[in-house]
Amino acid sequence: MANATPLAAMGTRPLLLLLIIITIIFPTSTPAAASPHISAVISQSGLDFAKDLLVPRAADTLAHLSVPDIERSVSIPIIGAVRMAASRIVLGGVAVANSTVAAGETGVVVAASLSSVNLTMEWSYSYSSWLVKISDSGNASIQVEGMDVGVSMGLKNENGSLKLFVMECGCYMKDLDITLNGGSSWFYQGFIDAFSNHIRSAVENTITNKIVEGASKLDLFLGGLPKEIYVDRVAAMNVTFVNDPRFSSSSVEFDIDGLFIPSDKTAPQSDMHFGDTKLALPLGSSSNMLWISLDEDVFNSVSALYFKAGLLQHMVDKVPDQFLLNTASWRFFIPRLYREYPNKDMLLNISAISPPSVRINVGRIDTTVDLDVIVNVLGSDDIVPVACISLSVAVSGHASVSGNNLVGKVELNYFSFDLKWSDIGKLHTGIVQSLMRIVLKNLFVPYVNSYLGQGFPLPIIKGFVIRDAYILTSYSSIIVSSDVSFIEPMDKSGIKQVAGSVHKDPAVTMKQLV
Ligand SMILES: *[C@@H]1O[C@H](CO)[C@@H](O)[C@H](O)[C@H]1NC(C)=O
Ligand SMILES: *[C@@H]1O[C@H](CO)[C@@H](O)[C@H](O)[C@H]1NC(C)=O
Ligand SMILES: *[C@@H]1O[C@H](CO)[C@@H](O)[C@H](O)[C@H]1NC(C)=O
Ligand SMILES: *[C@@H]1O[C@H](CO)[C@@H](O)[C@H](O)[C@H]1NC(C)=O
Ligand SMILES: *[C@@H]1O[C@H](CO)[C@@H](O)[C@H](O)[C@H]1NC(C)=O
Ligand SMILES: *[C@@H]1O[C@H](CO)[C@@H](O)[C@H](O)[C@H]1NC(C)=O
Repeated sequence: MANATPLAAMGTRPLLLLLIIITIIFPTSTPAAASPHISAVISQSGLDFAKDLLVPRAADTLAHLSVPDIERSVSIPIIGAVRMAASRIVLGGVAVANSTVAAGETGVVVAASLSSVNLTMEWSYSYSSWLVKISDSGNASIQVEGMDVGVSMGLKNENGSLKLFVMECGCYMKDLDITLNGGSSWFYQGFIDAFSNHIRSAVENTITNKIVEGASKLDLFLGGLPKEIYVDRVAAMNVTFVNDPRFSSSSVEFDIDGLFIPSDKTAPQSDMHFGDTKLALPLGSSSNMLWISLDEDVFNSVSALYFKAGLLQHMVDKVPDQFLLNTASWRFFIPRLYREYPNKDMLLNISAISPPSVRINVGRIDTTVDLDVIVNVLGSDDIVPVACISLSVAVSGHASVSGNNLVGKVELNYFSFDLKWSDIGKLHTGIVQSLMRIVLKNLFVPYVNSYLGQGFPLPIIKGFVIRDAYILTSYSSIIVSSDVSFIEPMDKSGIKQVAGSVHKDPAVTMKQLV
């Protein structure tokens, strides 16, 4: 390095140290294949949130549920065998009194107590002997004293998607009170004795089946989550699940590949947010629903992609002090430049020579960018490169969450530079330094920030919105801790509009889950 700012000099030693540390920690290239780079933890409050979202919807699907008819031959004293039937058994509205969700070792258990469960039905009987043939029918209502429903569900990784399965599902009805309209008293007692338990188990089975069916819709929904989040034409985030979800007593943790991959240019669905969700990790005592931890490699993978795509390059033809981009201004400092190209405009071609590497540590995010700045002179019909300055720029960053995106902002820490080659003789160090400082502060940093300001999407299922997020930086990773809200996606007309693409739109599917 021919020269350096004082800050640059200060920075040299930490950089060396860092290089040593990196070499020690990453002795060989790590096989990235099956290791997660993002993990998301859904905390108890996140599980509660999901439960409160799903249970009322599940309860709604029970309303007006039909239970299969029941027919039996009942033996009545004196009279003999009588054929009795309960038909058109229909569940009325169902109200959820309370519900709970708990994570266990192998899955999640959701339990709900239902109150004021009513059923209506029709009854009939027929009885014939060689003497008489009688039959009668009417209706009945059934009041259920209380009902408990529980389901335990496991989750596993199947080919990079989440597979949800029901381990156990049960429904238990407390007392039921059957009121028959009409009918004679002998029939009444016979019917109650013979049918109570059958009606009970028929209703219990029907509800259990309905819940299992709801769970399989949830499974379909999870299985259909996209494996990539489109970011732009260059990059997509690989949101393939790796490993099985891990359950602890108060949380569920999901591992996601998380690295950026070349985007599938044929399928740019810009707002396709995927995810594993709405929830989070119990670090400390926070009650936030969701914790998403992203390691350095996530950021370095996107940096590598942009570099490879040739995007880390920028042609500068305007600076705040525009006169600096004319050879006339350099007449006294670089006489040869002016002599060879008098009064010519100049262009700076700034390009990264390697992918910027991101380093995250407790409380800070640092990046070093190595740039070549090629000084070009605008000829009458050509562009002539006349010198090249190599720059090593250290910036420190700051991350935040905007909408569902992780966004960033950097500021210049220090830079050092070196004259790589020159066709116009030696350049005056102080001048180059001032010019580079202007370029970096006024052009490079704002340019970088305009990109980082848009950020990239966090793996959140569409329809959910991050709120009250805060960010922690720890050793080699960024942790986003937040709550989420669910945006009721659309009104009826909206649903019609998107009905054709339901399978592509997790939010809609979510709405229609149960
Ligand atoms: C069930 O019936 C009772 C009385 O018949 C009524 O007060 C209650 O609102 C009904 N509940 C539902 C959920 O329909
Ligand atoms: C609902 O509340 C009752 C009374 O507090 C309790 O006994 C029951 O276990 C609760 N049910 C659930 C599913 O939490
Ligand atoms: C039940 O039967 C009674 C009398 O037989 C009748 O008034 C009532 O409307 C019926 N209710 C239903 C829901 O069918
Ligand atoms: C996983 O994917 C492979 C190849 O795509 C397929 O052969 C296999 O059946 C899948 N396994 C499951 C359980 O879906
Ligand atoms: C996405 O991640 C999974 C799991 O790590 C990996 O198997 C797959 O190859 C990755 N996809 C791409 C396109 O790199
Ligand atoms: C800018 O410089 C880079 C790196 O030397 C080079 O690949 C690129 O073609 C140059 N761009 C223009 C427009 O000259």
